[in-house]
Amino acid sequence: MKRFTKAFLGATLAVSMLAGCNGGGGTAPATTGGSTETTTTTSTTTTSTDDGGSTETTTTSNEGAGKKVGVSMPTKDLQRWNQDGANMESELKAAGYEVDLQYAANDVQQQLSQIENMIAGGCDVVVIAAIEGSSLGEALDMAKSSGVPVIAYDRLLMNSDAVSYYATFDNYKVGTVQGTYVKDTLDLDNAAGPFNIEFTAGDPGDNNAGYFFNGAYDVLKPYIESGKLNVVSGQKSFDEVATPTWATDKAQSRAENILSSYYADGTNVDVWLCSNDSTALGVENALAANYNGTYPIITGQDCDIVNTKNMIEGKQSMSVFKDTRTLASQVVKMTGQILSGTTVDVNDTSTYNNGVITVPSFLCEPVFADANNYKTILIDSGYYTEDQLK
Ligand code: BGC
Repeated sequence: MKRFTKAFLGATLAVSMLAGCNGGGGTAPATTGGSTETTTTTSTTTTSTDDGGSTETTTTSNEGAGKKVGVSMPTKDLQRWNQDGANMESELKAAGYEVDLQYAANDVQQQLSQIENMIAGGCDVVVIAAIEGSSLGEALDMAKSSGVPVIAYDRLLMNSDAVSYYATFDNYKVGTVQGTYVKDTLDLDNAAGPFNIEFTAGDPGDNNAGYFFNGAYDVLKPYIESGKLNVVSGQKSFDEVATPTWATDKAQSRAENILSSYYADGTNVDVWLCSNDSTALGVENALAANYNGTYPIITGQDCDIVNTKNMIEGKQSMSVFKDTRTLASQVVKMTGQILSGTTVDVNDTSTYNNGVITVPSFLCEPVFADANNYKTILIDSGYYTEDQLK
């Protein structure tokens, strides 16, 4: 019976995905079709006050009782995925689900087999933050044939019709927030310029990376074309400025090459537009050892602890804050909706085409952070304690 329900669910999902793409509305249709399982949900809310005086609310329920969710994360190397995994695990457990959380050490084969094991092990839904969005086809095929719905987490899963939903932050907007920060800080509409700028983008295997870069570049492009911004290295296409696996050391060595080739004569770099914090850190390391000019504006994303400390010390200008708690809560909510056959909460049914289908998506809002507002958005919200940033 369970197999039948799952297979039926898969077929229903395919129909509802199409309806979600064409309908243009704010929600995608229910997805469990003829499931006869009844779910009873009870919730208890406990409120506790931590030392800093902020109030934390934990809601527990048994909505997930008897259901298992697989959560596949790319790596433990970057702070954010540890937070994402921990938040997902605790929120799912609080809702009564059994959780199979795995990290894949940035190794695509490892991620493939971890997901296959989740499906073989009876997971009812699989949530995947892909290392390489295009490389998980075999596992996605298996999910589809087993009738297991798949939620793409933060990064879109490409070239497959087995992706049921996508939950992420508005990735293009992350880039426009970075570009707009540069535009406003330099007052590009009024200042005489010209200003020197370099770009460092993300991993070509991550569908998000192009959105971030394009969002930032689109804001700055008119000023590059008019000559007010001068890309001294000449490297301004995504392929030229990308950073495989988002690795700090790779961003650092490219920045070192640029500094020694184009800035060793005392030329100042006024802006280094970095797509995220791990790459910004590489650029910051390179500047510390190889540059004596005026310190540039540096952008980032994630508000990682080390980068937030650098913001406080003036070594990084801003970061885009993506509250991983918000994303985890949204995905847990969508999981419950999928499994109970109610309408799944999405707010974008047109942006994220994965090469085969347009995946119904929920986009969370990214927030701008810098040394002036970090206390409010990172400490007062309980994301970090003050001690963690010392
Ligand atoms: C995420 C970013 C992160 C980057 C590197 C992207 O897919 O959206 O938040 O900085 O991967 O892990």
